[in-house]
Amino acid sequence: MSAQSVPVITIDGPTASGKGTVTQRVADALGWHCLDSGALYRLTALHALTKHLDANATDDIAQLAASLPVVFQGAEIYLEGKEVSQAIRQEQVGNMASQIAANVAIRSALLQRQRDFRRLPGLVADGRDMGTVVFPDAPLKIFLVADVHARAERRAKQLMEKGLSANLSAILSDMQARDLRDTTRSAAPLVAAEHAYTIDSSALTIDEVVDQVLAYWQAIP
Ligand code: C5P
Repeated sequence: MSAQSVPVITIDGPTASGKGTVTQRVADALGWHCLDSGALYRLTALHALTKHLDANATDDIAQLAASLPVVFQGAEIYLEGKEVSQAIRQEQVGNMASQIAANVAIRSALLQRQRDFRRLPGLVADGRDMGTVVFPDAPLKIFLVADVHARAERRAKQLMEKGLSANLSAILSDMQARDLRDTTRSAAPLVAAEHAYTIDSSALTIDEVVDQVLAYWQAIP
């Protein structure tokens, strides 16, 4: 069976729109695999930071991305044998990820690795360009948005729940800068794919968003 015949649901949207949780929940409901493509950009960023590379060292970072020594084991992620699932969530790593993600060579180094996640019985993929670039033939595409203030508050709450410090106004301005970079870059900018359904999660619960995505999937003949 060709990879193209494996169904994919793509869920793209800005940071902290709820994509990660919705993706995991939809994948669980369908019994499908899950791809958190942002984790690959974050892993590349963390790897570059540990090698003391600056975000401008794009050639070196593209080489690192092409042979990223990463192993996914359930919720655990190992980079060069070290468990980094929490470390890649740091704001500093997210900011570096967003900067290097604007580079075409780094993006193309990660392309096939993302497509390799497409396995039976199906894949739910979350990111910025899942529906536009990585899986353009996906039968269902979702563009998940939310007001930037609602997203900053969610992120601050998540950090505090993990016992980490959270400065709401710093988070808000970082998020606005990241949104601007993600939507205005020339390489795979964050835009809704053609035929994508846009869901605004600002005033919806996770359950409501998950139910809406599953309803779109079930409505496909
Ligand atoms: O989704 P997450 O915040 O973990 O992604 C980290 C960064 O990686 C984003 O700010 C974005 O710039 C980049 N990214 C991307 N394309 C993807 C996934 C993430 O450019 N498919």
